[in-house]
This record gives sequence, C-alpha cells and structure tokens, in this order.
Amino acid sequence: MFTRARHIAVCRLLRLAGRRFTATVSGPTPLEPIIEDTIKTIGPISLSKFMRTCLTHPEHGYYIHKDPLDKNSGDFITAPEMSVAYGMTCGLAFVRMFLAQLQYQSRHNPDFKVKDKIFRVIEFGPGKGSMMRGLAMVFKQYIIDNPVEIVMVEKSDILIREQHKLLCKSQKLEQVDDYNFESITEWGQPITWQKNDLVELDLDSKYMNFVVAHEFFDALPIDRYIKTKHGWREYLVDVREPEAGRPGKFGLVVAPHATPGSFIPATNERYNKLAVGANVEISADAHMYASQFAKIINSGDVGGALIIDYGPKDTIPINSLRGIKDHKFVDPFSEPGKIDLSVDVDFLGLSRLFESQGLKTMIETQSQFLNSSGLPSILGGLAFSMKEQQQRFETLYQRLTGSAPQDMGRAYKALQVYRNANKTT
Ligand SMILES: C[S@@+](CC[C@H](N)C(=O)[O-])C[C@H]1O[C@@H](n2cnc3c(N)ncnc32)[C@H](O)[C@@H]1O
Repeated sequence: MFTRARHIAVCRLLRLAGRRFTATVSGPTPLEPIIEDTIKTIGPISLSKFMRTCLTHPEHGYYIHKDPLDKNSGDFITAPEMSVAYGMTCGLAFVRMFLAQLQYQSRHNPDFKVKDKIFRVIEFGPGKGSMMRGLAMVFKQYIIDNPVEIVMVEKSDILIREQHKLLCKSQKLEQVDDYNFESITEWGQPITWQKNDLVELDLDSKYMNFVVAHEFFDALPIDRYIKTKHGWREYLVDVREPEAGRPGKFGLVVAPHATPGSFIPATNERYNKLAVGANVEISADAHMYASQFAKIINSGDVGGALIIDYGPKDTIPINSLRGIKDHKFVDPFSEPGKIDLSVDVDFLGLSRLFESQGLKTMIETQSQFLNSSGLPSILGGLAFSMKEQQQRFETLYQRLTGSAPQDMGRAYKALQVYRNANKTT
C-alpha cells in the first residue's frame, strides 16, 4: 500500500542514489498545450499557478476529473481509507477538546449555555468521506445534547458524490446551485457541501466550530524561492527541452530579477535571516485557508481544529514538491493534470499564524497523537469483536504509528488548535 509518507522515504533514498524520479511514458495531456500557450504568451509562470492549474483546473485538473483514492485506478491511499478506526480516533480527540473547553467555559464564562449551541464540524478536502464517517459515528455517540451539523469543503464533483454515497446512503443529494449541495447523513445529521475557495458559513456564536483537514494542506500550491547574493529570487515554471530520463515538457528556472512574489521572503524575518543559498517553499493558499480556519474557530466561544499531514515539525519546507502516480513517485512536471502533486506542510508557519489570532496550538507526531487520543483502545475493541482479524489490526497499528520508513507515525504530524487556554492532555 502506497501512502504519500512512504513516498517521501523512498524519494529520499533515491535522491541519495542520485536518481530522483521514475520516468513516466507521457503523451500530451489536455493541460499541456494550455500551460505551454500561457508561458509562450506571458513568459514563465509562478510555481503556484502551475500547481493550481494541474490540481484544480475546472475541467482537466487532477482532483476534478478523477478519484485519486479509487481502489483500482487510484494513485495513493490515506490513513482514513485504511480503517474507520482512524476517523474515530480523531473524533475522540475532538470530543476531548470539546469537553475541556466546556469545563473552561463553566469556570470563566457564566453566560455560556451549552444547551443553546450547535456542534458544527467542517472538513476541508474530505476525499472519499472516510474521516467524516469515523467522526460522525463518534459524535453520534458522545455529542448527545447538541445538534451536530456537517460542512464539507470539496472542489471535486466526483468526490462529493463518493462522500455522499458513504455518509448518506439512500438520502438524496440535493444540488442547491453550482457550488452547493445538501443532504442528511445516515445518523440524521444535516450535511452540506461547498466548492468555493472562500467558505461561506453563518458565523453566529450559536455554533461551536471544529475544523478538520487531513492531507489537504499538502495538496495546496506553493511558491519556491532561493536567496542569492542579489536578494531573493523566485523559481518559475518554463518550457524546457526534452532530456533523457526527464520526460516532462516543463521545468523550473530561477527568475533573473526580483518578482512580486520574492518580496514575501524578503520582507519576512523568518526567511530573510537565512543564509545566501537557502531555498524555501511558501504557500499563500495555506495561509489563506488557515486564516479562514482561525476566523471560523474564533466566531464561537468553543472550537478548534485538527490538521494532519506530513512535513517537518519545526523547520521551513524545502525542495519537497513531488508527483505521484500509480502508487509511485514521478517527475512533478510530467503529465500535468494526470498526476497528483504534493508538498511538505509548514506546520510551524501554520501554528504561528493560529497563535497570532489568539488560538493555542500543539504539534505532535501522528504516533504521539493517535496513542494519546485512543487508537489502541479502538483497535483493541475492533480486534475483540472480530477475533479472526487480530493480525490485521496489529499491522494497521504498526503502519499508523510506527517509525520505520514505510510507516506513518513519524513522517505525519498532527496540529491541534484550540479556542481558549485548554490543552487536551
Ligand atoms: C490528498 S486528498 C485527501 C483526501 C482525504 N482527506 C484523505 O485523507 O483521504 C486531497 C483532498 O483535497 C481536495 N482538494 C484539493 N484541493 C482543494 C481545494 N483547493 N479546495 C477544496 N478541496 C480541495 C481533493 O479533492 C481531495 O478531496
């Protein structure tokens, strides 16, 4: 089973061996002439524009025209797809966050009345809906005194239909307009879907908002910069001559002069203090989404977020862009729109942004997070009820929490964000 974490480990090994990517047999994809024409007309384009076109172009974008998680034709597998136990463990983490904040409210806010509140859970990039399935099951059991509402933020019509099938069974999917859908989950919770970049939510304080994003931030576009002795310069995507072992039509070049983007690292101390020769990746989209998360959480007295992805815990990501296809890694500039693109997430940058908005944060490895949030008990319960599958659950536990290169316990990080001064531990 190929997870994107395994990809990183293998990628590092191959980098050491001096061969970075497997060559793919690439014919022209529908996006290739579109990108080439743009570059020929306006010159080399930013990396984020290239990535956004490849991933979410309204017709030919990777996430728009295929189900990347399909069992037969998919390109990778994620933890929520391995077992419902993963989503359930994340659900328990939210319940614990919620209960700790109720305790805080009861001590510090005499006006807070929990019985008047709606528990709203908002998932960004929900894939096939498996994380939300685990969460909804747990919320049905533990959030019994409050109505639960679900919002899914998803760009892909194909995945919206998959999520609806998994979560709502025979309930009809109603299309409200081009960007919005609604239904009812099999547990009776109202559920809506939004395709917009800027999420539209009623931010009334009657809501307690809990936001979840699993392998969402790694799919957001980045820009890449290098510090030269003349200042910061941006890497741009240009058309390149074909080369043996490099089948893609595009590649990176360093802009000869400062570009508008290069003012971002130049005016930010976190980057600007780095030495000449430093490379950094910066995602304005990640910043935009995290700012939305903060605004949503801060609109209620109680709320939080859980972001799980891979990336370093406390350093700036560098040179992490990779292409993924057929459970293998490929040149990220090959077959635009036909391969997944993925980057390391800047956990420290996200955490600082949340803290600047008055929120508390905690970054752990996935192993620490799952172990302290109840995965062993959930798997133990499942293994007890399905005795013949005991070995399967042991293997799953190892895969999710282990620290070997093929395991996910160390490469993946969990960032928890809280309203108020509550820690979950
Ligand atoms: C790598 S998949 C992860 C899916 C799921 N969370 C999981 O872990 O199995 C990325 C998800 O984010 C969605 N996505 C990517 N870019 C998006 C964007 N800009 N806005 C909304 N959804 C997006 C994709 O369609 C997909 O559902």
